[in-house]
Amino acid sequence: MVSPISLFAPAKLNLFLAITGRRKDGFHDLVSVVAKLDFGDTLHTEPADAFSLTCSDPAVPGDESNLVLKAARAFAVATQWEGGARFYLEKRIPMGAGLGGGSSDAVAALRALTSVSTRSLEPESLAQVAAQLGSDCPLFLPNGPVIMRGRGEQVEALPERAAGRLRGRRVIVFKPGFGISTPWAYARLAAGKPASYLLVAEAEARLAAWVADPEAPAEAILFNNMEPPAFAKFVALPVLLEQLRSEFGLAPRMSGSGSACFAFLDGQMAMAPVVEAIRAAWGVSAFVQEARLS
Ligand code: C5P
Repeated sequence: MVSPISLFAPAKLNLFLAITGRRKDGFHDLVSVVAKLDFGDTLHTEPADAFSLTCSDPAVPGDESNLVLKAARAFAVATQWEGGARFYLEKRIPMGAGLGGGSSDAVAALRALTSVSTRSLEPESLAQVAAQLGSDCPLFLPNGPVIMRGRGEQVEALPERAAGRLRGRRVIVFKPGFGISTPWAYARLAAGKPASYLLVAEAEARLAAWVADPEAPAEAILFNNMEPPAFAKFVALPVLLEQLRSEFGLAPRMSGSGSACFAFLDGQMAMAPVVEAIRAAWGVSAFVQEARLS
């Protein structure tokens, strides 16, 4: 008898996100430093005759469009497993946020099925299945902060001398009531005249310099060239970020294609006045969460 399994599916933040150009396949090449948080969803999985999904948040689609079920189908095909599983998703990561919630849930499903089915995939096949599910899935395969390249399928651990500067850092993550569609954000970036890509050599040089400098704080790598197109349309984002800069001395950024933003907080800094400013600007529908990089 196989026991049910509950897995944590962390949210992610893109601390550095350089979109470096458009590829022939329509996707974009990027160089990104991605950290995971100690905040996320929980996926409960138990063996069943067929695959099914229910979720604590009724707004999350429980049908075949959900990446958890897509991951389950892909796992079954790749391992030729004929079993099934009942998934229950405790959803905490907001959708349309650039926090990788759906991608993280999908990777948790692959891990859970490895345990429930007692079938396993070779690491290369697992990485391939994850990449097919979504560009942000492979980054969730290893623990800890990673460097991501290509369209997201090339993932390596961030060297320890830099990872140590991130681990345990306190952050505030906040998102307005609306989300931003990832395809829309990429299309806006590509349509810019000129498109505001960062040269890949420039992205790699900035990253290498930051990794090599033991004195460089986490704040020194913060960058996201998806911000200008998103900020041009969703002006509530830059208005609040500027306020957080001037009133609290924070260095806030957007994560991924948005709409979630984040800022590092010093260990001692009180969060309540920052939360108050966010709620005053974005209203009660805003999502606010304190977390630590893991
Ligand atoms: O891979 P994923 O399904 O998350 O991608 C969603 C959309 O985001 C793609 O269809 C594409 O428009 C855009 N995208 C991109 N380049 C990437 C990742 C995503 O253009 N590296």
